[in-house]
Amino acid sequence: MEPVKIGLLGLGTVGGGTVGVLRRNAGEITRRAGRGIEIARAAARDLNRPRPFDTSGIALTTDPNEVVDDPELAIIVELIGGDTLARDLVLRAIEQGKHVVTANKALIAKHGNEIFAAASERGVMVAFEAAVAGGIPIIKAIREGLAANHIEWLAGIINGTGNFILTEMRDKGRDFADVLKEAQALGYAEADPTFDVEGIDAAHKLTILASIAFGIPLQFDAVYTEGISRITREDVAYAEELGYRIKHLGITRRNSHGIELRVHPTLIPERRLIANVDGVMNAVLVKGDAVGPTLYYGAGAGAEPTASAVVADIVDVVRTLTADPENRVPHLAFQPDALSDQPVLDMAQVETAYYLRMQAQDRPGVLAEVTRILGDHGISIEAIIQKEPLPGTPHATVIMLTHRVVEGNMNDAIAGIEALPVIEGSVTRIRVETLDGQ
Ligand code: NDP
Ligand code: HSE
Repeated sequence: MEPVKIGLLGLGTVGGGTVGVLRRNAGEITRRAGRGIEIARAAARDLNRPRPFDTSGIALTTDPNEVVDDPELAIIVELIGGDTLARDLVLRAIEQGKHVVTANKALIAKHGNEIFAAASERGVMVAFEAAVAGGIPIIKAIREGLAANHIEWLAGIINGTGNFILTEMRDKGRDFADVLKEAQALGYAEADPTFDVEGIDAAHKLTILASIAFGIPLQFDAVYTEGISRITREDVAYAEELGYRIKHLGITRRNSHGIELRVHPTLIPERRLIANVDGVMNAVLVKGDAVGPTLYYGAGAGAEPTASAVVADIVDVVRTLTADPENRVPHLAFQPDALSDQPVLDMAQVETAYYLRMQAQDRPGVLAEVTRILGDHGISIEAIIQKEPLPGTPHATVIMLTHRVVEGNMNDAIAGIEALPVIEGSVTRIRVETLDGQ
């Protein structure tokens, strides 16, 4: 049988990885797919840029539309990034009846509803395994492997750059900016690295995970998002002293009121496996009612781990090229006419425990004032540490762990504490999750 011809949009980190893996493992990939896969065309911005992989046999162009419009190609692989040009190219490919594979989480989180509707209309597949957690096949695991379950919640370290930065800061005491530069050089970071450090990239991924876990439309704008740029080395050290690690988590959970959708730094007990996921590695913990908690771990970014997911999607599409579109796995796991309209909860309604750090005057009665405010808002304290003031300073550092409370109460309590004359500056708040499988 003739090989399936595909076109690549983008020959950067992931595009290069995809060329390398497809070529190196061509024999086995053909045996799995049932057909050979030939990269016939590819687009990049600068054709004179030296590439650390072999592009011989691939017709190169700077115009991605030429690739999309080539009638010989059955599959378009979008690895350019961004959500404007990429959206246009993907919709154009779909309009022409081409299948699409993409690693672009921004595109799927923001325009996925439109893209999947167009793809269903045209009877083509849009595969996006590489968009979440790099090389971990988490989309397939949730959409297919856990299809029997009522998914209750999931929590994941879903940004490799952020986890790499937090790990290097903790283990080697390195500076934030210095580690970020290294993550960029290694090809982990987004074109705009604030997406990684401010949690936007993780919010894109969480949007996708929540949709396939709960059967809700993609709702990127509803995600509460907080990044890691304000985490200090002191917070990392105090958390360790209390038996916790700080991880940047994406969390989504459903209850009878609605769905939590949030990305923020989180203290996790250090005995949890996920608390020990370090460097560029990602992990996603998924709780299903039948299976219980399951954990998926692997490289969250980088050329070949991401290419592993891209190529698996290409193989999936090739395998189903002849299948009846009605009988394919639905893009967002649930049948398009069976999506739920359960609301996403406002962050003030979410219940969690907290780590609080504040600078308080070192004199009798101060702690009592703080605990009174917490008590007035129904917040009970699990642990308190007080550090001696540094020589020449009147303020001691006070660190508290609280039991679970709704965020709205905590917001009010923090406002009250910050208004106390004995408290200097603002209160640092980091949410705490035990992730104990309940
Ligand atoms: P890169 O910046 O390394 O690569 C982007 C590629 O697109 C480059 O080859 C660039 O050309 C090309 N390109 C950009 N604009 C145009 C244009 N207008 N016309 C033609 N070609 C263009 O990005 P990555 O490979 O890192 O990321 C690609 C996608 O994969 C993004 O959506 C990203 O979020 C996603 N992703 C990335 C991961 C990673 O670890 N890096 C992991 C998972 C997903 P040129 O090379 O000439 O500049
Ligand atoms: N910039 C992303 C990360 C790439 O660091 O996780 C993988 O999606």
